[in-house]
Amino acid sequence: MNYINKNPEILIIDDTPEHVHFVASIIRTKNYRVRVATSALQAFDALKKGIPDLILLDVIMPEMDGFELCSLIRKDPRYHSVPIIFLTAVKDSENIVRGFEAGAQDYVSKPVNANELLVRIQTHLNLKKRTDKLVEAYNDIDSFNHMISHDLKTPVWSIKKLAGFLKEAVENRNDEDINELLDMLTEKTSKTVDLIEKYAQLAKLSRTALKIEAVNMGSLSEKAFEEIKKICPGQKIVFERGELPVVHGDSLLLGQVLVNLFSNAAKYSRGRDKSIIQMSCKKIDYEYLFSIKDNGVGFDMNYATNIFKMFVRLHAQSEFEGTGIGLASVKKIINLHGGGVWITAVVDRGAEVCFTLPVEVEVGNLFG
Ligand SMILES: Nc1ncnc2c1ncn2[C@@H]1O[C@H](COP(=O)(O)OP(=O)(O)OP(=O)(O)O)[C@@H](O)[C@H]1O
Ligand SMILES: [Mg+2]
Repeated sequence: MNYINKNPEILIIDDTPEHVHFVASIIRTKNYRVRVATSALQAFDALKKGIPDLILLDVIMPEMDGFELCSLIRKDPRYHSVPIIFLTAVKDSENIVRGFEAGAQDYVSKPVNANELLVRIQTHLNLKKRTDKLVEAYNDIDSFNHMISHDLKTPVWSIKKLAGFLKEAVENRNDEDINELLDMLTEKTSKTVDLIEKYAQLAKLSRTALKIEAVNMGSLSEKAFEEIKKICPGQKIVFERGELPVVHGDSLLLGQVLVNLFSNAAKYSRGRDKSIIQMSCKKIDYEYLFSIKDNGVGFDMNYATNIFKMFVRLHAQSEFEGTGIGLASVKKIINLHGGGVWITAVVDRGAEVCFTLPVEVEVGNLFG
C-alpha cells in the first residue's frame, strides 16, 4: 500500500540529462520528491500520473519550447494552481516577459545557484499552500450556503405543513389527529434542531485553532465507545481494540472523530446478533495508521466516490437514519491534524475506516 508521503513533489522538465541531474541533486537536499520529464510528451504523461506541487521548466527544448508547453499546461484547469518556475539560460527581459505571459510564476537563470533555486521553490510552495487553504475555506462557505438555501428548506417546509394540519385538526376538535400531529411536530422540530447543531459544529471546525495536547487514543476510544453504547440501548455491541498510541492532537475533536466512526459502525451493524467494532493502530514511518472495522451491512464501493462530502449517503433514510455529515466532519478534523482518511467496504461484510495522524513528538514508548 502506498502510504501518504507529505514531502512536496517537484516535476523537472528539461531535455538535458546533466541539467536534470544537477537540479535534482539540489532539490533532494531539502527532501523534496523529484519526478523528471525530458520532453513535452513525457511531461504530459507525468502530469497524468499525478499533480506535482511545483514544476521546474526548461525554456529551450526540442519539439516544443518551454513557453508553449507552459501555456498548454496552464490551459488545463487541473494544473491551474501548480506554480511553474522557468529555468532559463538567457537572462534577457524579452524571454522573462514571455515566460510570465505563458503563465509562469517565476524564473531562475542558468547556471543555477542552489540557494536561490531553493529559496524560490520554498516561497512558491508556501504561496501555493496559502492559496489552497483559501480555496478550501471558500468551498466550505459554499457548502454551508448550499446547506442553508437547500437542505434546511425541506424540514422547515414540513413543519409549516404539519402546523397547517394541526390548525385544521384543532378547528375540527379532532383529538386523535391533534395528538398525532403534535407528536410529529415535536419529532420533526427536534430533528431539525439536531441538524442545525451539527451544521454549527462543522462550521466551527474550519475556524477554531486546534488545541494540541498529548491524547491517549486508548482511553479516548473507551470513552467514545461508552457514549455510543448509551445511545444504542438494547443493541449488543462489543469493542475489541489493540494497543493504541498517545498522539498529539485536539482531544475534543479526535473524540468527535471516534464518536462519529463508532456511531456509524454501530448503526450500520445493528441488524446483527452482535455488533463488533475493532480498532487497531500501527506505526508506519512518520505516521500512525488507525483502523476501525465493523461487521455491518457495508456498501458497494462503486457508489462511494463522494462519501466524505457533506450530505452524501449510501443508505435510505427509511433503513438507516442520518444526515450524511458524520464522515465529512471526520475528514475535516483529520485533515486539520495533517492526516488522511479513507473507507473501504464490502456489501454485507462490513466496513473499515482508516485514518492517519502524524507522529510529531517521540516521547519514549508512545504505545500504551
Ligand atoms: N460503517 C459503515 N458501514 C456502512 N456504511 C457506512 C458506514 N459508515 C458510513 N457509511 C455510509 O456512508 C454514508 C455517510 O456517512 P456519514 O457518517 O457521513 O452519514 P450518516 O451516518 O448517514 O449520518 P450522520 O450525519 O448522522 O453521521 C452513510 O449514509 C452510509 O451510507
Ligand atoms: Mg454517521
